[in-house]
Amino acid sequence: MAHDLEIRPFDVDDTEALWRLFRTPGVLETTLTMPSQRLDQRRRQFEQLGDDDHMFVAVRHGEIAGVAGLHVGTGRRRHVASLGVMVAVTHRRAGVGDALMRTILDVADRWLGLRRVELGVLTGNEAARRLYEKHDFTPEGVWRQSVAGDGRLQDELRMARLRPAMPADSDDAAQRALAEGDPPLEGTLETPDDAERAERPA
Ligand SMILES: CC(C)(COP(=O)(O)OP(=O)(O)OC[C@H]1O[C@@H](n2cnc3c(N)ncnc32)[C@H](O)[C@@H]1OP(=O)(O)O)[C@@H](O)C(=O)NCCC(=O)NCCS
Repeated sequence: MAHDLEIRPFDVDDTEALWRLFRTPGVLETTLTMPSQRLDQRRRQFEQLGDDDHMFVAVRHGEIAGVAGLHVGTGRRRHVASLGVMVAVTHRRAGVGDALMRTILDVADRWLGLRRVELGVLTGNEAARRLYEKHDFTPEGVWRQSVAGDGRLQDELRMARLRPAMPADSDDAAQRALAEGDPPLEGTLETPDDAERAERPA
């Protein structure tokens, strides 16, 4: 596990640091970034992030060391999100990618209750494929000649990770208590009785 590592939500002030990071060799070829990308384009992308876009940055030794994003689908793909992660070359193999994955998958599993998280990784990108496998992603197929870059058309391995629905309080204890006519469990919401309601200001 990395020392001096903080994972926190992305802030708009991180834009320039991330723009630089995305353009560095070792990152540029493995993501969908264009070498020509301007700071104002990146800034616009980040400004357009909405409530269904969840981004975290890793700060290590006082600098932005990496970033991960989870983008939740809409309509009939509401239960699905796509995921991306990237770590600066100088901060690799120190647990930063692992920490970002744990944080973003915690949001997916325990805060959003998503059923499916999916991604694409270029077939030659062994480090990323291993990272994803470590976090329970499994291969689903190859999109051939999917991404242009570095003078050739590259294949993309599609991977996904499925999870069952989140458990609900009402699935078990509270539901049983209600069915049996027991008093409400400690910590459950009670409806105020009439006397209490009468005392409250309108
Ligand atoms: C993939 C990437 C995010 C890994 O980040 P990292 O901080 O170096 O990863 P960690 O140190 O947390 O390692 C976590 C796991 O990833 C895998 N891994 C990371 N680097 C690896 C490498 N060079 N070779 C093989 N496996 C590797 C291992 O499974 C490792 O677990 P382990 O340490 O228990 O063996 C990083 O290499 C990167 O940013 N690459 C370029 C961008 C990219 O490819 N993003 C994904 C686009 S789909």
